[in-house]
Amino acid sequence: MSGDTTGGAARRTKPERKPIDRRAFLRTSLIGSVSAGLGGFALGALGFLWPRQGDGLFGEVALGDARELAERILGERRPVLVPEAAISIIAWDPSDGQASSAYGSQHAVVTDTAGLMCIDTGACPHLGCAVPWCQTSQWFECPCHGSRYNKYGEWTGGPAPRGLDRYVSFVDGEGQLVVDLSSPITGPARTANALEQAREGPSCIDA
Ligand code: FES
Repeated sequence: MSGDTTGGAARRTKPERKPIDRRAFLRTSLIGSVSAGLGGFALGALGFLWPRQGDGLFGEVALGDARELAERILGERRPVLVPEAAISIIAWDPSDGQASSAYGSQHAVVTDTAGLMCIDTGACPHLGCAVPWCQTSQWFECPCHGSRYNKYGEWTGGPAPRGLDRYVSFVDGEGQLVVDLSSPITGPARTANALEQAREGPSCIDA
């Protein structure tokens, strides 16, 4: 990855905010990932009956070092789940003109070729089920009625009316990824396809 980007909403200096404790964050992320994998179907089917996981967090929340997060997500080829906020952090490519034009003004830019987006995977835009990540297909797949979304949370199929909703995010002066949970963004229209990502392997919900 190359040098820092300084334009647009990529970097801002923000007033003091309370970060999530790093060890607690990593621990809960791991537990959340395993839980999502094992119980995705059952939890998804009941998702709309339970309060949202992120209901206790508001405003700007620091999620960790932006460069480390980007390296981890790109290296492991999976998003980082943040159960406390009911979001998944995904990596996107600001050097791609289509992606930059669609997402560059509202999502974090870490380097010229690595950005981060905070996708709302706690509530499918169809009927509100949680939407787990599927490592084999490299898509988000909703177990309730089969809506699917690519790595950027763009709609690829199923009854959902749009892509996954998301939140404004940016990199602060200390290099932290900050999500603004008070600034939700309605998911992209069904026609949005900045990533043009085909399914990369077997689905997790067709088996
Ligand atoms: S709630 Fe996700 S497809 Fe229906």
